[in-house]
Amino acid sequence: MIAPRRALREVFPYQPGKSIASVQRELGLKSVVKLASNENPLGPSPQAMAAYRKAEKSCGLYPEGASPELRAALAHFHQVEPESIIVGNGSDEVIRLLCEAFLDPEDEVVVSQYGFIRFKQQAAMMGARVIEVPMTDWTHDLALMASAASPRTRLIFIANPNNPTGTYNTQEEVAAMLAAVPKTALVVVDEAYFQYAAAVPGYPKSLPELVRAHDNLVVMRTFSKAYGLAGLRVGYGVADPELIGWLDRIRMPFNVNLPAQRACLSALKDAAFVKRAVTVNDAQRAVVARALGEMGFGVGESATNFVFVRCPLPGRELFKAMLRQGVIVRPLEEYGLPNHIRVSIGTAVQNKTLFAALKRVLGNKVGA
Ligand SMILES: Cc1ncc(COP(=O)(O)O)c(C=O)c1O
Repeated sequence: MIAPRRALREVFPYQPGKSIASVQRELGLKSVVKLASNENPLGPSPQAMAAYRKAEKSCGLYPEGASPELRAALAHFHQVEPESIIVGNGSDEVIRLLCEAFLDPEDEVVVSQYGFIRFKQQAAMMGARVIEVPMTDWTHDLALMASAASPRTRLIFIANPNNPTGTYNTQEEVAAMLAAVPKTALVVVDEAYFQYAAAVPGYPKSLPELVRAHDNLVVMRTFSKAYGLAGLRVGYGVADPELIGWLDRIRMPFNVNLPAQRACLSALKDAAFVKRAVTVNDAQRAVVARALGEMGFGVGESATNFVFVRCPLPGRELFKAMLRQGVIVRPLEEYGLPNHIRVSIGTAVQNKTLFAALKRVLGNKVGA
């Protein structure tokens, strides 16, 4: 058998949240609620879906490779030049492109202990040395991360707010980190949950301000969360045009499909939809935090559309028991957190289903 590259032998595949279809198949359940991948429980904006359906007529043709219309609209939205933007097949593709473009084997990458796991997985695939820095209060410690950067460091990854801990870093902290790291290190700030966090005190104004001021900063955003378009796989990065040029050179020729480009173009204009999604999330996150707290779970502060939850029983055990109740949550052993789970915020109805299922599971445990 032919072996793959050396760096790949140590790599484990990303474990996505379990799908509704797989739980239905495996457990023979009809009704399943998924609160495992931080999707928008309202689904996509109807306006975006109308644009998606309209694109049907053009599906016989290749899309434009660099998503020029979406790129121009995003440039206008963020007040940067179109050349400052790369559109990817999810922000996941942008993470991959960054690692492929900037990492030689043995280069150093700085990540946080419980930072979004894709960063270290992707860096490891390039044979890079991953340096994991401890968190402080479940939050990226940017001062410590900056001090871990050396002349060999090429990338420093931060998710702000972070998945799975739900915590965030302030403008002051990000600016101090940018001032402290060597200019040869590229700082990547992943703002996948930006819309949910934008109003929290001190949240950074990264676009356009910080990106304009620092040519070693990339900011990533996605259409998968507040825009409700996870299934279409569109995310993007914003940075200095020269840096974006390298990513553009190595992306797949037609990396974002045509209906996805059109739907995102329309979604970007539907600010009212995003506002509603954030309002519903804010209200329901408070309901979920209170209910779970009353049941004896430890619920962390969250600037996102999920909560990070410490459980009175092993997270895997709870996850399995909840599956049998038709509710999918996310265990976190891959992060080295066997006693935590992550729960996405659903609609009021979905959350009530969650609470009822948790009560049944906890009741069974007490009765056992
Ligand atoms: C912090 C963070 N970054 C990136 C992603 C990937 O998003 P996308 O769907 O744009 O690939 C996620 C998805 O869960 C995430 O939580």
